[in-house]
Amino acid sequence: MEHYMLFLFFLAALTQTETWAGCHTMKYFDTIVTGPSLGLEERWFMTVGYVDDQQFVRFHNSSGSQITEPRAPWIELETPDYWERETRHLKDSQHCPMSLQNLHFNYNQSDDGGVHTLQRMYGCEVFPNGSFSTFFLRYGYDGQDKLSLDPETVIWIASDQVALNLKLKLETDRSLAERWEVYLKETCVQELLRHLEKGKKTLLRTDPPSVRVTRHITSDREVFLKCRAWGFYPSEISIIWLKDGEEQIQDTEYIETRPGGDGTFQKWAAVEMPFRNEEKYTCLIQHEGLPAPLSLKWEPQSTSNGLFMGIIAAVLLLFTAVVAGVVIWKKSTLGGKGRNYALTSEIDSAQGSDVSLTARG
Ligand SMILES: *[C@@H]1O[C@H](CO)[C@@H](O)[C@H](O)[C@H]1NC(C)=O
Ligand SMILES: *[C@@H]1O[C@H](CO)[C@@H](O)[C@H](O)[C@H]1NC(C)=O
Ligand SMILES: *[C@@H]1O[C@H](CO)[C@@H](O)[C@H](O)[C@H]1NC(C)=O
Repeated sequence: MEHYMLFLFFLAALTQTETWAGCHTMKYFDTIVTGPSLGLEERWFMTVGYVDDQQFVRFHNSSGSQITEPRAPWIELETPDYWERETRHLKDSQHCPMSLQNLHFNYNQSDDGGVHTLQRMYGCEVFPNGSFSTFFLRYGYDGQDKLSLDPETVIWIASDQVALNLKLKLETDRSLAERWEVYLKETCVQELLRHLEKGKKTLLRTDPPSVRVTRHITSDREVFLKCRAWGFYPSEISIIWLKDGEEQIQDTEYIETRPGGDGTFQKWAAVEMPFRNEEKYTCLIQHEGLPAPLSLKWEPQSTSNGLFMGIIAAVLLLFTAVVAGVVIWKKSTLGGKGRNYALTSEIDSAQGSDVSLTARG
């Protein structure tokens, strides 16, 4: 599954493109895998479409037929008209002159016996008010960016000699770049706005992060504090560590924001320090779902307090249960009516716990 890993790598690299807070994007990722065992006719082909961080469509060649599949609940409600249009778009993008198949990055590897991956990412971004912000069109080969269309100048940008040869070839037909420009600035934006409207319950929601700071001992002199955020949407988040009010860029270790598996995201940032310096550090979290930035410190007291309260609660519960048990036992030995047992004992136990609380207070 080497090419699958490569695919994920490229996907991760491409989704890193900065999105402004409150902006929305629609992106398509095309992948073609070629190799000696696959043969030219049986190349593995796949397109996945995303609105922001959510996949909504998948298109692939499966045993000779082409399949368009919905991948999000809100897109399943789309009209047959929409599906016809979408399938036509996905098929055309395979066959137009600028398709991935027609773009050959000639690195003289045609008979090296290896598997090669061609990728294309394209899409558009809109401002929170719905107007066009920018577009993306990039081609990659074996996991590396090769060629892209600059959104400002609408000029091809090549990253090496092979890509430069392609760029020169593409520039002989100016209408190609122009056609892409029309699609990316107009059609793409219209479709994106339609998706945001139809899927607004899911796409325009903001789930604020749940957060926690934990302490881990690394050696007999050092500890690290880990600031974790999870359960948030959209994926855009900022987690930084401050020491005496200053950001600790050098000493902070991050993980990439990753999907939590339930449509939300997770991330952490950790910072290492000598023992007993913990209170100098503050974790600062910013997310669209938070009304204001959240600052957190490691609090040794709160965890032991929590444990203490837990023990009290457990003792109380046990006491209540004993009281309730005695009451029920008394009632049943006094011979109350069977049908009312459950009800009376419930009321009794509620009173019992009230009694125990007042007794304690
Ligand atoms: C996908 O399948 C269609 C129909 O069999 C075929 O014409 C096309 O070349 C295939 N595309 C790729 C990239 O394999
Ligand atoms: C591929 O081979 C041709 C002919 O030998 C050569 O001119 C060209 O520079 C090679 N390309 C690369 C990227 O090595
Ligand atoms: C939408 O917002 C962007 C960025 O804030 C601004 O540049 C643009 O003029 C706005 N467009 C409209 C139609 O209000």
